[in-house]
Amino acid sequence: MNRFTIDHLISKRASKRESSHFTSGPQETPPVGFKPHPDPLLLSYGAPNNGFFPIESSKVNLVDYPFQHQDKLERDYFEENTHSVNITRYTTNPDLIDLSTGLQYAAVEGHKPLLQFTKDFIKRTHNPNYNQWESILTTGASDGLNKACDAILDVGDVILIEEFTFTPFLRFVNNAGATPIPIPIDFSPESNGINLNYLTEMLGNWSNKYPDLPKPKALYTIATGQNPTGLTQTFQFRKQVYKLAELHDFIIIEDDPYGYLTLPRYGTTTTTTTTTAAAAAAAAAPKEVTVDEYLKSHLTPSFLEIDTRGRVIRVETFSKLFAPGLRLGFIIAHESIIKVIKNYSETVNRGASGLSQLVVNNVIHDKFGGVDGWIGWILKMRQTYSQRKDLLLKTIFESKAYQQGLVDVIDPQAGMFVTFKIKFLDGRNQEEITTKMKQLLWKTISYGVRVVSGSNMSVDANFSSERSNFFRLCYAPANNDKEIIESGKRLTNAVLEFYNNGEKY
Ligand SMILES: Cc1ncc(COP(=O)(O)O)c(C=O)c1O
Repeated sequence: MNRFTIDHLISKRASKRESSHFTSGPQETPPVGFKPHPDPLLLSYGAPNNGFFPIESSKVNLVDYPFQHQDKLERDYFEENTHSVNITRYTTNPDLIDLSTGLQYAAVEGHKPLLQFTKDFIKRTHNPNYNQWESILTTGASDGLNKACDAILDVGDVILIEEFTFTPFLRFVNNAGATPIPIPIDFSPESNGINLNYLTEMLGNWSNKYPDLPKPKALYTIATGQNPTGLTQTFQFRKQVYKLAELHDFIIIEDDPYGYLTLPRYGTTTTTTTTTAAAAAAAAAPKEVTVDEYLKSHLTPSFLEIDTRGRVIRVETFSKLFAPGLRLGFIIAHESIIKVIKNYSETVNRGASGLSQLVVNNVIHDKFGGVDGWIGWILKMRQTYSQRKDLLLKTIFESKAYQQGLVDVIDPQAGMFVTFKIKFLDGRNQEEITTKMKQLLWKTISYGVRVVSGSNMSVDANFSSERSNFFRLCYAPANNDKEIIESGKRLTNAVLEFYNNGEKY
């Protein structure tokens, strides 16, 4: 395929930034007869020799499956554990990052072995449909999203956003001086999230609908296990959205922290309450899935797999699959977008932490055994999330509130969120929904369960108030199954009492 650019969609701010470093030496053409020395010594960089680093080596002990630590006394666990990674000051293995390298200044795009891993991982999971793509490490998805906004959005530009979303994203839009425009979410059964008819019509009639605004430069979407609704767009649906992106010439920023945690439909696996993590892992049904089956039949394809023109920026993170405190993620996009993101990284943070990179890289290479081994760990997490999701749904389905038709849920196909809909508020006017949801939130708090109101995650509370009669439930933070069941009971009892009390606190 011929080489192509996407430069017309890059922001003026990002295009103007230049990258150079004061240690890089003269830029002019060398004088006639100049010969470089074969073994130059460095009195240039301000990089401390690794002999100044106080850490000699480090040992990282791993678990075999999520929550394994709950099954054993810590002392026993560490005495028996042979599942550990030794991180040394030096290594000759090119797949590993040693301390002398990981703790040193490094290329802003990331250390080579981990950067290569992100590319191999993407090729295995969501192989892009063109060749001119690149990867860069970030300090988590938040950093990735901010950099994606900087790369595309100038002051006055417009970006489309699912009406309920990961609202910190609005800060990144604001930072770039752009205007967010919400797109309604379709809450009907088998929904793909975005209301496609609305989006098509809106783009087709843009200048009538928004005479003072330029046409959108980008669409931000959490296409799999959406935050907060849990909805997932099918591959077919993504193709339709991508067609609109081509027709109206905009970028798709695909934020996907949850997509790898695919979840079977409720009722297709056995739901048991377990007392130990080992039993939970054993009881959850999707364990039989092999890596190949998972990739072929469970993982929803990314927009990258449709993209032929470099108009997709995919933002990934290790926060939900490894740990959020690492502050580590990566972006896959067209090489010219990655180039401007690299320049911005030089301005804002000089890339991701070397310590985080070396821990993640060496654990994945040394113990999980590379890409497929890492996917194997994801499959174990998926088991536990699947078990939790089904337990929460089971508790809700068995409640009086559900059985009396007062509430409904969306069974997510991926991720950590269930939409808990307050059905008796369906069809009410905006004002009533807003006041009653606020009152109901107080009731849930008094029952001892914390949830997030849909309206708290809206781009524009007024625009979305008629569809705001839901709470986002997240089954990720609970300590164990018992807590999940108890949360479901408290929540549904709170709703029942609120309803029986004439829809009042
Ligand atoms: C949709 C979405 N994007 C991005 C993030 C931020 O991820 P990170 O911790 O990697 O910055 C989150 C975190 O909850 C999220 O839900």
